[in-house]
Amino acid sequence: EITTRLVGSEMCIRDSVIAGNWKMNKTNAEAVEMLTELKGLVKDVEGVKIVIGAPFTALSDAVKAVEGSNVEIAAENVYPKSSGAYTGEVSPTMLKAIGVKYVILGHSERREYFKESNEFINEKVKAVLAAGMTPILCVGEKLEDREAGRTAEVNETQVREGLKDITAEEAKNIIIAYEPVWAIGTGKTATPEMAQETHKEIREVLKSMFGTVADEMVIQYGGSMKPENAAELLAQADIDGGLIGGASLEAASFAKIVLAAK
Ligand code: PGA
Repeated sequence: EITTRLVGSEMCIRDSVIAGNWKMNKTNAEAVEMLTELKGLVKDVEGVKIVIGAPFTALSDAVKAVEGSNVEIAAENVYPKSSGAYTGEVSPTMLKAIGVKYVILGHSERREYFKESNEFINEKVKAVLAAGMTPILCVGEKLEDREAGRTAEVNETQVREGLKDITAEEAKNIIIAYEPVWAIGTGKTATPEMAQETHKEIREVLKSMFGTVADEMVIQYGGSMKPENAAELLAQADIDGGLIGGASLEAASFAKIVLAAK
């Protein structure tokens, strides 16, 4: 559902979505422990969607740990087929069956280390939508792209190709995470102004693809977001949430970011 909120002096029709991305961290038991603590810390939060992306081995118990709370669980990857001879892979059907609600797709680490192409990521976006879950599509430029003045172009290509053949109706259920690669895990955050400028450019691309639906689409910022800088970033008109790596590993720091989004 869509809720309005006040951002600066503007009414905003988008939800705020704060999502953690644990990456390859936490055993099953550690995941349950963190989520149990987190649930308590954010139980009174309204108007913010709270999501934690956990590794496959922790997903089933993570979903059970947050049952009945305002925290939802994301997977960090998926294979875009519903079943079959794909040794070692996990399907959208399997994730949906255990109660996973979101899937993080096209993270820069997957693009870099696992050579994921925009075309493959696009297949994943479609497969996740078809299974009735929400894709969180990550895009973002590398430092050399920014320095060469190619930021807008790189993000546009990743958005257009990642969302190829997606309808405006489907786009309503897609979250974009803008993560400048040079800001991930480096402690370097984009300034709020710099991030806002790129978010706005990305929304323009979405407008040209999906019309007014683009105004309803959540665009998260990711890259060294932490309790100290979250409020300033989240106050920008086109920043509708965050995708948080390092600062999502501890319940207390992640909860502070959630509270900053209110
Ligand atoms: P970071 O990671 O918050 O540790 O920079 C963000 C991400 O990669 O999603």
